[in-house]
Amino acid sequence: MSPLVEENSGLQANGSYESTDATEDGIAEENGSVGTYQPTGVQGSVAIATKPSESKPAPKRLDEQLNIEGKVFLVTGGGQGLGLAMAEGLGEAGGIVYCLDWREEPHPDFFAAQKAIKSFPGKPSHGSLQYRHVDVRDTEGLERITSEIASLHKRIDGLVAAAAIQQVTPATQYTVKDICRMVDINFTGAFMSAAAVAKRMMEYHCKGSIVFVASMSGFVANKGLLSPVYNSSKAALIQLARNLAMEWGKHGIRVNSLCPGHVITPMVQANFKEDPGLQEKWEEESMLGRIAMPDEFKGPALYLCSPASSYMTGSAMIVDGGHTAW
Ligand SMILES: NC(=O)c1ccc[n+]([C@@H]2O[C@H](COP(=O)([O-])OP(=O)(O)OC[C@H]3O[C@@H](n4cnc5c(N)ncnc54)[C@H](O)[C@@H]3O)[C@@H](O)[C@H]2O)c1
Repeated sequence: MSPLVEENSGLQANGSYESTDATEDGIAEENGSVGTYQPTGVQGSVAIATKPSESKPAPKRLDEQLNIEGKVFLVTGGGQGLGLAMAEGLGEAGGIVYCLDWREEPHPDFFAAQKAIKSFPGKPSHGSLQYRHVDVRDTEGLERITSEIASLHKRIDGLVAAAAIQQVTPATQYTVKDICRMVDINFTGAFMSAAAVAKRMMEYHCKGSIVFVASMSGFVANKGLLSPVYNSSKAALIQLARNLAMEWGKHGIRVNSLCPGHVITPMVQANFKEDPGLQEKWEEESMLGRIAMPDEFKGPALYLCSPASSYMTGSAMIVDGGHTAW
């Protein structure tokens, strides 16, 4: 054996990499691929010694890296807006997606997305979109629903935690009740959603990905928008992602935050109603001169949830049209 090749590392003496990540149902595990990993090009001429680890490199081909067909995802706040758009994207890419939301019934957009996934002309997907009613503050409800879904599919591959509320109020007028409500939903709810999912990932030995939908507002104060608690809750999520990434990396679970700039959703339309002129101000502050559409986050969500981002954890991905880059 070459001195470069460690025992149990999966690296073969000829430089190829034997993946052992195939699951019972034949779906490639995240960070691994079914079959042999044979580096080519630059990688092919280099023998790489790797430490045994729960986390494995992504498959070599880009289409395999982005393949989430048959994988199971939960999206909190998936009843409308940005959460729903990202859920729809994961469904279009072949994922089995469950939207969790406190609305008794999802927004009519949900049913349109559910239908479109199956019937897009010429490109029907094997993916699906389903709905479960739960408030993310109901930890028992979260645990129950997550366990039911994991037990049904014998796996759980990812979470996009998008459930959140916004409240625009001057700091001097904030009550303790207002602050606790927002922190309970935006921070504690996301934390408990991640914990419920991580427990099932560990139980079913799934190397999954958890994405906190934070915000650019976790890094900056939004000029003119009085939302001190919302912004602090998003900064807390960015920091939480780093800590959970550290704690769960040994299980092959990655945790990142996605930080959008301004996106046209019901939440933002409510802001525009309260503050005429805000839309124009935000458009000016974007280097692209416009506010984002929810569909523009399908790609980032797929990247973060798929093995394409296999070496990314504890990180914050800012997608804000350059808003914070001036
Ligand atoms: N729209 C933006 O400009 C923008 C920018 C950055 C980050 N974000 C973040 O994106 C995410 C989605 O925001 P959006 O703009 O689509 O808002 P939205 O209000 O349109 O959607 C939020 C969803 O979360 C659900 N929700 C709220 N509280 C819940 C609870 N306790 N339990 C379960 N579900 C709950 C709502 O019912 C709704 O479906 C949020 O985390 C938000 O902070 C939005």
